[in-house]
Amino acid sequence: MEFKRNILITGGAGFIGSHVVRLFVNKYPEYRIVNLDKLTYAGNLANLKDIEQAPNYVFVRADICDFETVCGIFEKYDIDGVIHLAAESHVDRSIKDPFTFARTNVLGTLSMLQAAKHHWDGKWEGKRFYHISTDEVYGALELTHPEGIHSDISAHEVYGDEFFRETTRYSPHSPYSASKASSDHFVRAFHDTYGMPTIVTNCSNNYGPYQFPEKLIPLFINNIRHRKPLPVYGKGENVRDWLYVEDHARAIDLIFHEGKVAETYNIGGFNEWKNIDLIKVIIKTVDRILGNPEGYSDSLITYVTDRAGHDLRYAIDATKLHRELGWSPSLQFEEGIDKTVRWYLDNQAWMDNITSGEYEKYYEDMYGNR
Ligand code: NAD
Ligand code: TYD
Repeated sequence: MEFKRNILITGGAGFIGSHVVRLFVNKYPEYRIVNLDKLTYAGNLANLKDIEQAPNYVFVRADICDFETVCGIFEKYDIDGVIHLAAESHVDRSIKDPFTFARTNVLGTLSMLQAAKHHWDGKWEGKRFYHISTDEVYGALELTHPEGIHSDISAHEVYGDEFFRETTRYSPHSPYSASKASSDHFVRAFHDTYGMPTIVTNCSNNYGPYQFPEKLIPLFINNIRHRKPLPVYGKGENVRDWLYVEDHARAIDLIFHEGKVAETYNIGGFNEWKNIDLIKVIIKTVDRILGNPEGYSDSLITYVTDRAGHDLRYAIDATKLHRELGWSPSLQFEEGIDKTVRWYLDNQAWMDNITSGEYEKYYEDMYGNR
């Protein structure tokens, strides 16, 4: 079968990648979608059960750092577009094991870029290398408007400088964000040096189905369900800007097709929450759905030693994407959290399959028994 486009999505078995793969496979039957994933601890093919038989979907298990293999995949499927999500993604792990982050996020991205350059051989017409990055590369913001942090788009018009913008200088603090920053620079260097048609987007914290339960929201939903402590780092005062994962996938689709080459777009939820306030919303939602009395799980909150170098606040100004391409988040946070909690409670088998002994042991070493 002839396909109109052959798109390589890396990291498609992970959290965000699986939503992007699903969207593209269903929305574009005329495209062949090749999902390249190493299946690390974070990769899970169960995330893609519903589309694995689709005629326009191919899965290849490979390491992005393996340059020869990646070149072979470009060749075999005649790839003309890349959406690069494969990465080590968890800050706590990066603190323990920065080498793995440098290898996958920096060298792996370079290997992808080199393979694309090799295959496209200067014929850039119709090609696209789209790199998915994080707002964490910008560093940390002050808590300047604590009373107004559940911001909406108008706050960004007024207080623009108090948010991360596309022009904000990079200032990564964690090994994770340092590795992502480095990969972003390599992607831009391939545009500036060789003319490769690249795009970079920097997105805020995602939440939703299929997120690995090392991250705050799925971890806490699962712990409440099992009556386990909820480890709040420090005082729970750090602020994150949360975006429903399907809204991120929609933005990626839009930018892949309509974004301008060599541009950067910030993607965010216009939705800042202090961790402790967010945690209270999660507890309330789980208790309500499980039919527990109000306040039933509040006592699970357990303050623990803060994360080393814990960035105080992330907040994205996504007005450029809104203005230029018409994107905005579709879900209100309360609705997104409700959907997310219901999904994890309805999919316990998915959760139980991945909460392996090794995963528990890793965290015991770091923060004590959960
Ligand atoms: P994830 O950890 O859930 O998934 C990462 C995927 O990459 C997994 O399927 C894993 O198997 C695969 N992978 C890891 N190393 C690989 C390698 N060497 N070769 C091939 N595949 C490999 O991550 P996520 O949360 O879905 O994040 C995806 C991307 O989006 C990352 O680049 C991350 O930096 C970025 N991002 C994430 C968030 C967030 O809130 N989760 C926000 C902004 C940007
Ligand atoms: P996380 O989901 O790891 O995302 P990121 O570090 O990329 O923002 O963490 C979100 C916030 O929640 C962050 O401020 C750290 C905090 N946190 C806790 O307080 N306890 C936890 O067990 C985890 C995993 C995170």
